[in-house]
Amino acid sequence: MISKDKINDIKHSVNIVDIIGESVALTKAGRNYLGLCPFHGEKTPSFNVVEDKQFYHCFGCGRSGDVFKFIEEARGVSFSESVQIVAEKAGFQLDIPVTDRQTKNVNHPNQVLYEIHSEANKFYHALLMTTKMGEAARHYLYQRGLTDEVIKYFQIGLAPQEANYLYQHLSKKFVEADLLHSGLFNTGNANMIYDAFQGRIMFPLTDEHGRVVAFSGRIWTEKDLADKQLAKYKNSRATAIFNKSYELYHLDKAKASIKKHREVYLMEGFMDVIAAYRAGLENAVASMGTALTADHVRHLAKYCQNIVLTYDGDKAGQAATARALEELTDFKVEIVFLPDQMDPDEYISKHSAEALANVLTKFRLTGVEFLIQYLKPENPDNLQMQIDFLDKIAPIIAQTSSITAQNTYIYKVADMLADFDYQQVEDVVNRARIHNRKQRQEAARVPQDSYVEPLSQPIISRQERITNLIRTENHLLYRMTEHPYLLNEYRLREDFHFVTPELQTLFEVLKANGEITAYDLAELDEAVQRAWYRVLEEKLPDEIGANEIEDLEFNRHREQMRRENRKRLKNVREHSHVGNDQQALDEIARLIAQKRKME
Ligand code: UTP
Ligand code: MN
Repeated sequence: MISKDKINDIKHSVNIVDIIGESVALTKAGRNYLGLCPFHGEKTPSFNVVEDKQFYHCFGCGRSGDVFKFIEEARGVSFSESVQIVAEKAGFQLDIPVTDRQTKNVNHPNQVLYEIHSEANKFYHALLMTTKMGEAARHYLYQRGLTDEVIKYFQIGLAPQEANYLYQHLSKKFVEADLLHSGLFNTGNANMIYDAFQGRIMFPLTDEHGRVVAFSGRIWTEKDLADKQLAKYKNSRATAIFNKSYELYHLDKAKASIKKHREVYLMEGFMDVIAAYRAGLENAVASMGTALTADHVRHLAKYCQNIVLTYDGDKAGQAATARALEELTDFKVEIVFLPDQMDPDEYISKHSAEALANVLTKFRLTGVEFLIQYLKPENPDNLQMQIDFLDKIAPIIAQTSSITAQNTYIYKVADMLADFDYQQVEDVVNRARIHNRKQRQEAARVPQDSYVEPLSQPIISRQERITNLIRTENHLLYRMTEHPYLLNEYRLREDFHFVTPELQTLFEVLKANGEITAYDLAELDEAVQRAWYRVLEEKLPDEIGANEIEDLEFNRHREQMRRENRKRLKNVREHSHVGNDQQALDEIARLIAQKRKME
């Protein structure tokens, strides 16, 4: 565990512009830097890096965060791994090894590296199958339900526990320079050369032609499993023959089955692909410890157009599914959603091979069905959450070609929301459709590289008024973060709270700690994090204006009243709809009373 202070030190000792600049070409635009967003495909830059506040924000896909978040998202690592990576760049000595360094690499043939990998593979596999230590490791694999047949098919191996057995073995055949380029070795003190993988169960990763190009090693001994510092899987670093954003585990062997069944299962882990194989499904592949990239997608497109996304059923898996859907717009995508947050490997262990085959082939959602479930507002009474949801889901529903399916989706959505009925949802979907069409026409008319994505018009007209409330509250919170005396004043007002729940959460952290650090932020929900970056985006003069705070208070009050009124109107409509005339009249009376008060 790295301390909070240390994390702040690390953050302050790097410049986010430099770190992002390593992988994204940035140009200075006014006070900020601008580039093509690495997280979604785009032709016009909408990815902003704000140097003075040390964060990034993409106006295209909405992703934003600080330097740690960037590394997390760009490399698909956890918060603590990302802290380690940034720490290393900043020259901090943390005693946790940083793996997975990624450099931009192109795949090109490099005979000697293939030979080194082929030899290493034989060495690891033989160690697993024929030695005493191998016996214990094999036992671990048997326990997880693998048989010798499966171990052989996937060419699973074992790296010795010693410092450089593989090196000793291979240096008889290959020169040092080539071995060092293979990614299988590291140089340490006094130029000693060490095996990069020690004591791990080895999964060879092959390219589509079946050549071993890298390895992933899993910990398995009781001692290693108890060590929380160790990454469960460690992958080869990028080399001339291994680009982990392109390669897919098991693709070489899955090819034939993918073509035959005209579909491919895309999974999260090696063990999941192995579980599918045990269930008789050979057409499964996995990306290797990274989120699905555009390169992976191009790779898959060579073989088929139908993808069955089978990520883990947990929160992270759902988020990964939603992101993969964004990459897979040109594919027909179905989603298998495993119950109880399980992954395919856990499912086969808990149930059986037949049960896994059954659920993989029969229980599938369409992309839209998945997104309705995934994006649905946590609190369906919260108006802003409902609007955010509609904003996102309407254009997606509008793209559905089948009218029947579209109606079903509209019903589902309307059923979920407190403030919208079928008619209203349908209206929003229709507006989204017109909007989609306009965008397509624009795209067709203007030559590709000069195509400027039109700023999306708010589809929901009421949004303006709602965001007024949020904007007002953002402004207020921003002032509190910059002016401690103001924070103090609000701290003393016991009845005060922000109407926007995310801002209230931030306010509480602020009250408790006086500031919001990267460390605090990492503990908070995604939505709260996003809200925080929206607050930081406020562009305000340093000084607080004469009536600024009073004006904010006034706006906040007015917007809250308007909101109340909207709710009353909905009640009126509902009451009169079901014939409760008296209640409808009562509500109208309250509405009028309040409007008077507002004037
Ligand atoms: P999971 O944590 O879901 O592992 O990571 P898993 O596939 O269920 O593995 P088992 O069943 O515990 O053995 C999914 C994938 O993410 C990558 C690996 O590619 C893994 O298969 N990963 C995970 C890493 O690269 N490093 C890690 O430390 C963990
Ligand atoms: Mn698993």
